[in-house]
Amino acid sequence: MRKYIWIPLLMSLEIILAKAESNIYLPTDSDSVSVMTSTCPAPDPSLNYRPVIGIVSHPGDGASGRLSNATNASYIAASYVKFVESAGARVIPLIYNEPLDILQTKLNLVNGVLFTGGWSKSGLYFDVIEGIFKQVLKKNDAGEHFPLLAICLGFELLTMIISKNNNILEDFSASDQASTLQFMKKINIEETLFQRFPPELIAKLSTECLVMQNHKYGISPETFQGNTELCSFFKILTTSTDQNNKVYVSTVQSENYPVTAVQWHPEKNAFEWGSSVIPHSDNAIQVTQHVANFFIGEARKSFDRPPAKQVLANLIYNYSPTYCGTAGKGYDEVYIFSETGKIARL
Ligand SMILES: *[C@@H]1O[C@H](CO)[C@@H](O)[C@H](O)[C@H]1NC(C)=O
Ligand SMILES: *[C@@H]1O[C@H](CO)[C@@H](O)[C@H](O)[C@H]1NC(C)=O
Repeated sequence: MRKYIWIPLLMSLEIILAKAESNIYLPTDSDSVSVMTSTCPAPDPSLNYRPVIGIVSHPGDGASGRLSNATNASYIAASYVKFVESAGARVIPLIYNEPLDILQTKLNLVNGVLFTGGWSKSGLYFDVIEGIFKQVLKKNDAGEHFPLLAICLGFELLTMIISKNNNILEDFSASDQASTLQFMKKINIEETLFQRFPPELIAKLSTECLVMQNHKYGISPETFQGNTELCSFFKILTTSTDQNNKVYVSTVQSENYPVTAVQWHPEKNAFEWGSSVIPHSDNAIQVTQHVANFFIGEARKSFDRPPAKQVLANLIYNYSPTYCGTAGKGYDEVYIFSETGKIARL
């Protein structure tokens, strides 16, 4: 009896499957067939499929002393590391207060650099950021494609360094604020970090709050455009508006160097949870992913292939991140670099 009951069921299932199959595209032209039967094509020899990114550490423990009070402690929020890793690259920490010759050696092991957010705008940290920025330009001038992505504080420091004016920044109220990005008129997004964004996502960036801001300083478009050095180095791609409706420059791209600076935090949408304001929607996560893909895509154009053993010995995998999200604020995980090498646990 049972057998007969199942027959019609099976028959209808076959019909459903047949229907589904008819919707699957099957290559019929000869080109596609030859692709299917051939072996994997050789990778593009002009690209570096094992890019490594240097991330500069920032003074402190990133957790207001909850993790370490060591005087020479510095940290990298793990979200920057995850951001880089998510796009197919590995990270070497550039510990800002290490001896200069070690920093220099490490800089020669990477295919691009990321400047993080933070607050420090003077002293050794400023000098190291300025020194690395000059090296980035030098490497590119020498024919190496060596990208730099500067985020938040990184944006502000580049603004100070390029304008040669340490007082050029203005006050803005954009702490812990999600915002839109307003594109400059007639802007060409080819060869900018927006190049791979689908048109619908580009449109949503200007109407939905898809990017996270967290800064008290910035630069207005007027001040920016009034500074010859800044204008000749960067073109403005977007502006944003702070909590008092004051407009500031939020994304810039160098025309002659693979150098991009954003006042916002592309890494936070996918990887930080310490503020309820951080956008985590599907579109917001896509923003993180497209920016990461753009940056690492640039690093793949770097020819430098440093000795594999030296890379392995310096990768961030030689350190462990510490979870500090239990405080309910700030970063979720940080890598801490300090004299003892020991990381205090909560
Ligand atoms: C750092 O110092 C503060 C203030 O004295 C203290 O509350 C905190 O527990 C210290 N942190 C560590 C990791 O010892
Ligand atoms: C921190 O200071 C100690 C003692 O002065 C030193 O041994 C160590 O190398 C320093 N660490 C860094 C990362 O500069």
